[in-house]
Amino acid sequence: MITKQDNCFILDTRYTTYAFRVTESGHLEHLYYGKRIKIHDINMLVEKREFVPGNNNVYSDQYKNVTLNDLNLEASFEGKSDNREPLIKVLHSDGSRTSDFVYKTCVIRKGKTPLEGLPSSYDEEERETLEIILEDKEYGVRLILTYYVFDDENVITRTSRVENKSDNAIYVIQLMSAQLGFSDHNYIMSTFNGAWAREMYRHDTPLRAGKHINSSNVGVSSSTANPFFMISHESTTEDSGDVYGMNLVYSGNHAEIAEVSEFGKLRVSWGINPQGLAWKLEKDEAFQSPEAVMTFSAAGYNGMSQNMHSFIRKHIVRGVWRDRPRPILLNSWEAAYFKISERRLLNLAKEGSAVGIELFVMDDGWFGERDSDEKALGDWYPNKKKLPNGLKGLADKINEMGMSFGIWVEPEMVSVDSDLYRKHPEWAMEIPGVKHSEGRNQRILDLCRTEVQDYIIESMTQVFSSANIEYVKWDMNRTFTDIYSSSLDEDRQGEVCHRYVLGLYRCMDELTKKFPDILFEGCASGGNRFDLGILSYFPQIWGSDNTDAIVRSEIQTGYSYGYPLNTVSAHVSSVPNHQTLRVTPLETRFAVASFGSLGYECNLCDMSKTEKDDIKAQIEMYKKVRSIYQFGMFYRGRFGNITEWTVVSEDKCHAIGILLQKMVTPNNQFQYFMPKGLDENMLYHFTNRELKLSIMMFGDLVNAVSPVHVKQDSLMHKTIDRFYKLSTEKEDITAYGDALMYAGVKLHQAFSGTGFNENTRVFSDYVARLYLINAVE
Ligand code: DGJ
Repeated sequence: MITKQDNCFILDTRYTTYAFRVTESGHLEHLYYGKRIKIHDINMLVEKREFVPGNNNVYSDQYKNVTLNDLNLEASFEGKSDNREPLIKVLHSDGSRTSDFVYKTCVIRKGKTPLEGLPSSYDEEERETLEIILEDKEYGVRLILTYYVFDDENVITRTSRVENKSDNAIYVIQLMSAQLGFSDHNYIMSTFNGAWAREMYRHDTPLRAGKHINSSNVGVSSSTANPFFMISHESTTEDSGDVYGMNLVYSGNHAEIAEVSEFGKLRVSWGINPQGLAWKLEKDEAFQSPEAVMTFSAAGYNGMSQNMHSFIRKHIVRGVWRDRPRPILLNSWEAAYFKISERRLLNLAKEGSAVGIELFVMDDGWFGERDSDEKALGDWYPNKKKLPNGLKGLADKINEMGMSFGIWVEPEMVSVDSDLYRKHPEWAMEIPGVKHSEGRNQRILDLCRTEVQDYIIESMTQVFSSANIEYVKWDMNRTFTDIYSSSLDEDRQGEVCHRYVLGLYRCMDELTKKFPDILFEGCASGGNRFDLGILSYFPQIWGSDNTDAIVRSEIQTGYSYGYPLNTVSAHVSSVPNHQTLRVTPLETRFAVASFGSLGYECNLCDMSKTEKDDIKAQIEMYKKVRSIYQFGMFYRGRFGNITEWTVVSEDKCHAIGILLQKMVTPNNQFQYFMPKGLDENMLYHFTNRELKLSIMMFGDLVNAVSPVHVKQDSLMHKTIDRFYKLSTEKEDITAYGDALMYAGVKLHQAFSGTGFNENTRVFSDYVARLYLINAVE
């Protein structure tokens, strides 16, 4: 709800309040953001000022008590006594960078207008938009701030827009989407950083003095620094304390800047990365920032995550797949890499169909002369040697097996060794006459060019309509170098990165509208472009090329802070793992991947019958509880050597938990599981997913019980294993939600070298258990 009270604006959600006012000098002073409060007299939130402190500059003669350097501002600028990081920087035609944006007027209107050319959140309910118009009278430039409130999700979104109303051209060299002021500075900033195959590791930086910047400058939102970040206190825990969560609906270069001023005040701003940005605005032209998202929770990181998860599930992800259960897929990549052929794929698919796979995905290698990553990107026609019956021939056969069919594409790229490059070398992003840096042997297409966007839309339309394609994995495997567009003048080269993103959004927009039933999955060498911009078009994203269950548990924990489970696709792969060479149990791989949109990416043809039977049982189980995983509320528990997660159905009647252990501690039999999010007063039945254990895992300990000597790994050992399996422990507890959550379930004694019976919990390195919690009827 948005309320205007005299010169103040109050934005309330169910549990939060955000307030700012227009000062006497016409600036927007941020007053409060946090737990919902009732404002009787707004003056109690206003900092009292009589004199400008120390050697600070006075804003103007008329307001001798004002220095902008010590005001929490909604929109700050350079040159008028504020020395901190500004929301906006404009380079004027006279060479000056000084601006002074003061309040002109405001508009409160019904509904949420989509941003032109940029994705943004949407709302089926027509709530109000607040628009504040600020003006720099000296230079005739306008700054428009918009605010939108999602009451139930406790989310507020903001955007900024610059309009050049002067007669001269200006350059926008910085325009952050939002800025937040805090009157104190005892905060930590948590960012999610990493690299290829180790995305989204949480890093906490105490904010005490100076500036801390989390940013990407590689053209995509990047795995180096995801745009999602949090501001909280050192004392904040998963379930208690204040947390602010912020994100950006954008897929290109971004920056999140936290600065503690000389007065100990924290300013946080986030938006397009100003590094490299210079957007020329002629008279009457405008520049629009992407949409910033913010939420607050006093219920710790889990509370904040749940706000973000509900917001993304309802107001970012859209189309028919928003509420549709995501299919369990089998992807060919780690099973075959580039060595694909119709016969090989059909053999794999047949095995997939036998274990219950719903969607078969042909990954890279199917088009042009694509036998390695060195060629053919851009040549989007099936390779006749590999697929003699084309896409349709293959798709039909997959459909006949009872599965839907999907493919991999990488439309934004071109290989130098391709028909497309030979025909249109000027379509690649290159600086004419300058030797290009290489990345995965491919170049980026210059999406600033409309004809390139048209080509992508046309070529993909042809591919997607050439067979019954129900899923598309849209990959992007290169970061930007040699940034240049020969379609733009020299003074517009500072626009290339943002124009690329706008071009990409046009392609995604048109293709997702043309093919509304296709389930699109974003990908960029795994999670190199995992952001709300992509999720506005594609309902899920491949979280990481790393399919090792242990690393994945860390990566998925990272994603879970800002993104709901069903947006993160996660696969079970073979062991030794292709990225880490680690060997983890199949159950662990499944248990971790099940906390995402589940898929398999392994060569089922080479797997043993036992493994395939286990996979079949996993898939059967997942299908039964899929809606809890994909649409439930997610809670993080312990993290470290033990990873503990719970996901709870909306009605709180059903929940699934996981306990994963990295390294076993010897002679430490006790362990517990503490679910979260249950109804305190509901009676639940708590059980574990029961498994059959291979005796091979006990090595030559088998001789402790065997009447005859069994040589480890011998034929005899393997034969006994074929006919004789051990059962896991059985947890079987009936308890109220409060007891389960606050006392925790004391699990069966763990195997610890001495003694073993049917109640023993065999819980060694890398082992995971799934727990099923169901309301007693
Ligand atoms: C990178 C992706 O992340 C992988 O899953 C796979 O699709 C390869 N590209 C194919 O080249």
